[in-house]
Amino acid sequence: MSVSEIEESYAEYADRMHRFEWLDRLFIGRYRQAQFGDVDGKVLDVACGIGTNFRYLPETVELVGIDISPEMLANAEKRLTKLGMEGTLREMNAQGLEFPDNSFDTVISALSTCTFPDPIAALREMNRICKPDGTIHLVEHGRSDVGPIARFQDWRADAHYAQSGCRWTQEPREVVESAGLSVKETTTGLFGVITTFEITPDRGVEQ
Ligand SMILES: C[S@@+](CC[C@H](N)C(=O)[O-])C[C@H]1O[C@@H](n2cnc3c(N)ncnc32)[C@H](O)[C@@H]1O
Repeated sequence: MSVSEIEESYAEYADRMHRFEWLDRLFIGRYRQAQFGDVDGKVLDVACGIGTNFRYLPETVELVGIDISPEMLANAEKRLTKLGMEGTLREMNAQGLEFPDNSFDTVISALSTCTFPDPIAALREMNRICKPDGTIHLVEHGRSDVGPIARFQDWRADAHYAQSGCRWTQEPREVVESAGLSVKETTTGLFGVITTFEITPDRGVEQ
């Protein structure tokens, strides 16, 4: 799917994601908390969606969120208000971030590389705009390492992609490796479906 087709598909998803967020909190909340609970400084949430990550961030951060979907951002704006948080939200393509090099202390992103038409470009953009002494934290999802779950994902992969533009059988470690990023730490959980990354920005990575 193209960037504009993904944008259209997420216009329909915004309210549904909001309604089913309790499920995310139950299954993925602990990974978000572990990756995003201690971040600091000027933080960029890439593809912030409806703002699911916001509740896990320390109150002290200076938050900027970007997403391609205005409908998702409208929900994220409501989330900021509900949490009593300050933050700036902008409509933007993750594959061409409109920020200068070294703009953020921390870059976070969750469940996003599966939907970017060009995840390598988006990851390299995160690397570019993060300060050299900053950190990139990702919580990604992909193909399970448990047979029956993986087989179900394989069976539904095309239908799921057609519906949401999400490649849920991706291998997040292969994607991050292909972008050439320097992984400091990575973990896997939830039957191998969730992979987290702590990445050190690397100025040697090509743009
Ligand atoms: C599965 S949702 C995840 C949202 C949020 N990060 C979360 O953890 O709930 C994927 C998000 O990526 C956004 N997205 C997809 N392609 C994008 C792009 N090229 N640039 C910016 N956002 C994009 C979608 O609009 C959607 O909000």
